Amino acid sequence: MFRIFSILFVLGLLLLSCTKDNADECDDDVPEYIDTTTLISLYNGMQSHNAGTDCKKCHQKGGNGKGWFVVSGTVYDSLMQQVFPNATVYIYDGLTSADPLLATIEVDSLGNFYTTQDIDFKNGLHVEVYGKSFTAKMGSLIYAASCNKCHGVTTNRIWTK
Ligand code: HEC
Ligand code: HEC
Repeated sequence: MFRIFSILFVLGLLLLSCTKDNADECDDDVPEYIDTTTLISLYNGMQSHNAGTDCKKCHQKGGNGKGWFVVSGTVYDSLMQQVFPNATVYIYDGLTSADPLLATIEVDSLGNFYTTQDIDFKNGLHVEVYGKSFTAKMGSLIYAASCNKCHGVTTNRIWTK
């Protein structure tokens, strides 16, 4: 009997220690779910949704979206109201487009782009968005690429023409 109580007691402690505040300590106990789905947007693609939202709210560890996006966002036209389909997002390892190209991401027909490919952002990367007659270039480097986390929230929507 005593043994059962002590087991229950220990289990109780384990449960108590797994609150949100110290989730790190629990990582070792709970087998980690890793979504290895490869999802990369393509010109004329129709699979995406939720244009303008921060895709990574759901498409990352802990979210319910399929695929964990490394880069994601939405491109609009110059009036920033309508989406701009089939643009192209280029990501460079450096300060300008003269530096090595790390990724070319096709924007789908809903204006959205996303990729689960592994890209190392730690040095800061340069990004450009090619439309049909205009290339929009971000002036500063990006260190994370959930583009809609800033664009449409703390700065203009991403646009091209
Ligand atoms: C509120 C949560 C949420 C947000 C925000 C969200 N998604 Fe999703 N997404 C999901 C869920 C859940 C699924 C899987 C169920 C489904 O297919 O509807 C999904 C599915 C998808 C799929 C299809 C995957 C497949 O192979 O079936 C794509 C592509 C996608 N999302 C792209 C995006 C993009 C791009 C954005 C941002 C512009 C975005 N999502 C924002 C929750 C979200
Ligand atoms: C941390 C916030 C943040 C993230 C993340 C971010 N941006 Fe930006 N972006 C800005 C800000 C602020 C500006 C305006 C100042 C500048 O150009 O540096 C900007 C400017 C731009 C411009 C030029 C806009 C213009 O009006 O000329 C483009 C294009 C752009 N970003 C694309 C992107 C893309 C594509 C991504 C994702 C791969 C991205 N940005 C991620 C904050 C962000």
